[in-house]
Amino acid sequence: MIELEGLTKRYGEKMAVNHLTFTVRPGIVTGFLGPNGAGKSTTMRMLLGLDRPTAGDVRIDGQHYDRLKDPLKYIGALLDAKAMHGGRSAFNHLLCLAQSNGIPRARVHEVLDTVGLTAVAKKKAKGFSLGMGQRLGIAGALLGDPRILMFDEPVNGLDPEGIHWIRNLMKSLAAQGRTVFVSSHLMSEMALTADHLVVIGQGRLLADTSMADFIRQNSRSYVRIRSPQRERLLDVLHGAGITVVEAGGEALEVDGTKSEHIGELAAQHQLVLHELSPQQASLEEAFMQLTAESVEYHAHSDPGLGATAPAAAPPVAPPAGQQQAPQWGNDWKKG
Ligand SMILES: Nc1ncnc2c1ncn2[C@@H]1O[C@H](COP(=O)(O)OP(=O)(O)OP(=O)(O)O)[C@@H](O)[C@H]1O
Ligand SMILES: [Mg+2]
Repeated sequence: MIELEGLTKRYGEKMAVNHLTFTVRPGIVTGFLGPNGAGKSTTMRMLLGLDRPTAGDVRIDGQHYDRLKDPLKYIGALLDAKAMHGGRSAFNHLLCLAQSNGIPRARVHEVLDTVGLTAVAKKKAKGFSLGMGQRLGIAGALLGDPRILMFDEPVNGLDPEGIHWIRNLMKSLAAQGRTVFVSSHLMSEMALTADHLVVIGQGRLLADTSMADFIRQNSRSYVRIRSPQRERLLDVLHGAGITVVEAGGEALEVDGTKSEHIGELAAQHQLVLHELSPQQASLEEAFMQLTAESVEYHAHSDPGLGATAPAAAPPVAPPAGQQQAPQWGNDWKKG
């Protein structure tokens, strides 16, 4: 278990991590999400005692990292795959780690096998591709057979087979009862891997929620409709108490009503439909909505990006007296 309490890091004027309090539990994969510069790596460094908190506290199984006897047996971490001596072979890199932590030589062979690097074990690490470096870093994290594993952007540079492999590795480590804490920018990847999510933006906690709740509250499902008799259709839908959202072009979007019901209403009023399609907005969009205000480093080359976010569409006001259905949003957002 990892416990953070009011964890704070300030670099000069910059609040990199701002009063973070949350717990990372065993037996599940916890995804740690946030835009570039949100403070994910800084938080992870403080956890390993590589950076000193300005305020607050972080404990590994109830203890501070620097108090742990044989820390590799408690927590294995991959923070920076390039942080190794390039002149050493993969085997020797792991052997040095093993020998300085009281871990038997046989374990080096085991972890090389687990990460699929046995064939290149004698090759120097500086000749490794980014993906091979990630695998070697993961081997180092597994070396002490620790109860807690922490990975900073582990799929960075991995090919599809590698991404699939690490996803299954993280799930199986959690299924063995270990604590698995993994950072990513990629909501879509996390949706397939994590059971629980901690989302931060500009150092602050934005969400601490199970993936199931995140999906339930944020993956908006709606029905997209196009009709050449748009105005009459709007009247019919409003008349039935259905809230309609105007999407781009001629399209309309309806939340909380099944496509069958809309189709039957249209048929009863002899209205022609050119499209009637159930849609699912992605978690990626939900994540971008949640973190939009805390994104520090914007690219300016894609002005259309925000326009695809579903909640950006303005609702069409229903006639007076009709109740507005609850809008999809981030009402669970903290702080
Ligand atoms: N050693 C340092 N000195 C000064 N500022 C730092 C230092 N390390 C990090 N920062 C700043 O702290 C903030 C958080 O950085 P951090 O690397 O933790 O973000 P991150 O969430 O890991 O981002 P990314 O997704 O890009 O890896 C950034 O604004 C960064 O510039
Ligand atoms: Mg980082």
